[in-house]
Amino acid sequence: MATINDNYLKLKAGYLFPEIARRVNAFAEANPNAEIIRLGIGDVTEPLPEACRMAMIDAVEEMGHRTTFKGYGPEQGYAWLREKIAANDFQAWGCEVDASEIFISDGSKCDCGNILDIFGDDNTIAVTDPVYPVYVDTNVMAGHTGDTNDKGEYGGLVYLPITADNHFTATLPTEKVDLIYLCFPNNPTGAVATREHLQAWVDYARSHGSIIFFDAAYEAFITEPAIPRSIYEIAGARECAIEFRSFSKNAGFTGTRCAFTVVPKTLTAKAADGSEVELWKLWNRRQSTKFNGVSYIVQRGAEAVYSSAGQAQTKSLISFYMENARIIREQLTAAGLAVYGGVNAPYVWVKTPAGLSSWDFFDKLLSTCNVVGTPGSGFGAAGEGYFRISAFNSRKNVEAAMQRITATFKA
Ligand code: MLT
Repeated sequence: MATINDNYLKLKAGYLFPEIARRVNAFAEANPNAEIIRLGIGDVTEPLPEACRMAMIDAVEEMGHRTTFKGYGPEQGYAWLREKIAANDFQAWGCEVDASEIFISDGSKCDCGNILDIFGDDNTIAVTDPVYPVYVDTNVMAGHTGDTNDKGEYGGLVYLPITADNHFTATLPTEKVDLIYLCFPNNPTGAVATREHLQAWVDYARSHGSIIFFDAAYEAFITEPAIPRSIYEIAGARECAIEFRSFSKNAGFTGTRCAFTVVPKTLTAKAADGSEVELWKLWNRRQSTKFNGVSYIVQRGAEAVYSSAGQAQTKSLISFYMENARIIREQLTAAGLAVYGGVNAPYVWVKTPAGLSSWDFFDKLLSTCNVVGTPGSGFGAAGEGYFRISAFNSRKNVEAAMQRITATFKA
């Protein structure tokens, strides 16, 4: 009989969001009249920007004519999109990133997992706690961890707690770690990193020969000008960091799918024979073999984000969600809850009321307010006692949800 990848058996029962969906569906079935408002998964609700839609319609039309039809595109993405990204997202911010170092993909989630293909199995891996579960689960699947302990922590991973005490930014490890996952603006806590904090990580990585996986999927939500938007704003980052970005949240592409990963050509890691190998070459080889690129139509849609209309429309989308975040913060504070995040990120991180665990609070919100959020403990042991509320929803739903929550908790 064929055998399986036994590492999958180490995974906790379900990926967090499907598990929440399962509980919500069960509640909805038992309470068919409940008007459930979903502020759990960070999925966008507002329509695609018009500039993107129009560009995609034009691209569909091109596909309908032999002279403009496109077959396979470059596995790395079309040059016109990569050049726009390099110019607008990096060079305009003083970052040295060349278009050839950008790889277009169908999602940051996929890239964060796939990137492990080009790294050895013997690396020591550090994640924050709480953390976006994909970083942990993909390492479990790849066999980089042991089993879980009673706190749900996997053996072999270095967990760096992020709590209100350290402003949700991890203290650097005292031991040597080889691969470090950082996410700023942070999912789930909504925290951001200062230039000094990121510089400390880059200096650490360079002195230990480590690689930072920098997930900047929520970069567009930064409102404070002093906060770095890219790891490449930090001196030395081209020697130690890979950055993941996405069109999912800034341009509403969660269902359309387009993202990109930056692998600087100056980045190296060690082969078994001790030689230093360029990671760009390996990632290029991996993508050319296992990926056929994002559709022409979708890449044209993503390119339109950089047009003047696209810039204005995405800016207004982001402001819309950030106004939701402001309402959530204000209302929950008025309800007597301690809240964090939501200023430079579309997530508000809430301290659960005394005596309620993350899942207790989830159940209470669901049953009393018919509002869905995400239990902080689902992001890691140090997330226990916290709860994430996403600002991705209509204004009407956000206002209604906040009204229900304040009515329950103010009392
Ligand atoms: C989340 O809710 O954390 C996000 O939807 C995750 C994702 O973008 O994959």
